Amino acid sequence: MKIIEVQDYQQMSRRAAEYIIKKVVQNPSINLGLATGGTPIGTYKCLIEDHQKSGTSYQKVTTFNLDEYIGLSGDNENSYRYFMDNQLFNYININKANTNVPSGIAADFQEECKRYEDLITKHGGIDLQILGIGSNGHIGFNEPGTSFSSKTHIVELEESTIQANARYFNRIEEVPTKAITMGISTIMKSKEILLLVSGEEKREALARLLDGEIIHESFPASVLKNHPCVTIIADKVAIADLKVQC
Ligand code: F6R
Repeated sequence: MKIIEVQDYQQMSRRAAEYIIKKVVQNPSINLGLATGGTPIGTYKCLIEDHQKSGTSYQKVTTFNLDEYIGLSGDNENSYRYFMDNQLFNYININKANTNVPSGIAADFQEECKRYEDLITKHGGIDLQILGIGSNGHIGFNEPGTSFSSKTHIVELEESTIQANARYFNRIEEVPTKAITMGISTIMKSKEILLLVSGEEKREALARLLDGEIIHESFPASVLKNHPCVTIIADKVAIADLKVQC
């Protein structure tokens, strides 16, 4: 794992966007894996700015999002489809038909999991996956205890995840308790992974990831140590006084 230390959230966002833009320019038909949440919002802003200023084209890009809440349709403001449309897709020249988010309202969720997993495979896999990390070490919505061999699947969200995501909802009771997420093995099949980490509340998770904790399903992000090509962009507050050895 390679770690890039940056000053703050702004810088993390800029560096991440530069990283992604370079890959898109090198491979205009790239398959990008995308994340939602607070962490990548700044990165998406920078991608939009660059698209408007420099014209980086997303016409041939295909995207696969990590996850979606069960029970929320794409027009629900709290759905991840809505998030992606409004934080990124509506402002770049991507073909919406090439943007994929698992369905939160499928009639048959087992079928939807299989469809999503097969779709990624059919497209030749993800070239670059963007990840955030939960304070409990989750990646995607793969909570502690998720099998490292998991494919796209349905999960029960942990209380800490529901609490963390409640900031986007009017009332905590409105936060869905289930989600559909790429599995750990789905994420690990990506050719390259870019993990973004910012803020004090991620400090402990980053320390657990970097400070030699064993690779174990009780801390999902630890699996990334088995991946040959992971870059972490983390800000000073998240890194704190860690002795980084990658
Ligand atoms: C989002 C996702 C999650 C988030 C994680 C961190 O698609 O899969 O794993 O990356 O919960 O969320 P934020 O960025 O809001 O701290």
